[in-house]
Amino acid sequence: MNTPLQLLDGFQARFGTAASVYRAPGRVNLIGEHTDYNDGFVLPAAIEFYCWAAVAPRRDGKLVIHSENFNETVEASLDSLTPLGKKHWANYPLGVAWALRQAGKALRGANIYITGEVPLGAGLSSSAAVEVAVAFALLSESDAAIDRAELAKLCQKAENEFVGARVGIMDQFVSCFGRASHALLLDCRSLKYEFVKLPEDLQLVICNTMVRHELASGEYNARRAECEEGVRILRIVYPEIRALRDVMLSQLEDHRSHLTPQVFARCRHVITENARVKSAVEAFHRGDTKTLGQLLHESHRSLRDDYEVSCRELDLMVEIAMAQPGLIGARMTGGGFGGCTINLVKSAAVSDFRRSVAAAYSSKTGLTPEIYLSPASEGAQQMALEENKPAK
Ligand code: GLA
Repeated sequence: MNTPLQLLDGFQARFGTAASVYRAPGRVNLIGEHTDYNDGFVLPAAIEFYCWAAVAPRRDGKLVIHSENFNETVEASLDSLTPLGKKHWANYPLGVAWALRQAGKALRGANIYITGEVPLGAGLSSSAAVEVAVAFALLSESDAAIDRAELAKLCQKAENEFVGARVGIMDQFVSCFGRASHALLLDCRSLKYEFVKLPEDLQLVICNTMVRHELASGEYNARRAECEEGVRILRIVYPEIRALRDVMLSQLEDHRSHLTPQVFARCRHVITENARVKSAVEAFHRGDTKTLGQLLHESHRSLRDDYEVSCRELDLMVEIAMAQPGLIGARMTGGGFGGCTINLVKSAAVSDFRRSVAAAYSSKTGLTPEIYLSPASEGAQQMALEENKPAK
């Protein structure tokens, strides 16, 4: 794990000046998958894996951005921001600057030094962490007021329009608003949110399958299109519907014959998943871990069978977890096609859980999984440099 002081050394070595330091977390989603872009409900938590950004102003209207992870520096003029090649890491920070300017924010040029701890491509939102950390850094240096909800939306816009991934608002929002020891229930239509306290005797255990299937991003956009297709057809009968969030399961079932089996299944996932988020929040409030476990399991099944975004390795990781003592519930988390599972595990059982899951997964796949423990963490913040603590 980095400290602001280590980051400042890196900044000083490259740019030769002092800097301010910001960090923004990745996230794990407890339940509510592929619901955010359907105006639905999600229940993510920010995790203690951060993207860090050190920043200092420049006078020439340029952004000079160095990534420690990629060991590369890019330079761009604020007046002519355009995406670099497809999948280039710098499109995230450049896209954020572009979106902030589109929104009329007066940005100054800046030197930025970025380092990320969120595992890349693991479905833990390393991209949202970069976007939010850089947005905070750029805005703070420009003395512009920060409205976190607006900032989350601008980071999403950067990813949608500059990077070209049609993601929803969940990741950027929780990276801005996360709270220690809590999950965040977000209504992705109104952006109203509330915190849900996580039980003290449970831990969030994140199991990385170490695979990322290539089709991930294309299939993500394809799922969105199928949801939109479902809405388009259902609106013929129910004109008041704006998104799948407005559709009841009985309405979908009554009009099954108008939809292809695939579009029907996609819609059924979203509608039932929204209901599961609400039930999960109630189960958290009641301390009903049995129901919680069932809901996580049903979510995984629905993502596997109806939404078809799981894969062999994720299914196996969940299956292995379910056979372990102390497991409350397990499911894939994030966009899918590889990446991680989220496991709610009784604290006393965590060390054995880790060991047994890693051994069983390795023996069945030949892959060595990474298993992370993380408490729910705080959202983006500026760091006080002397003490390695959030600045007040
Ligand atoms: C990715 C996207 C999110 C969300 C999830 C699936 O993480 O960035 O907006 O759609 O997939 O729930």
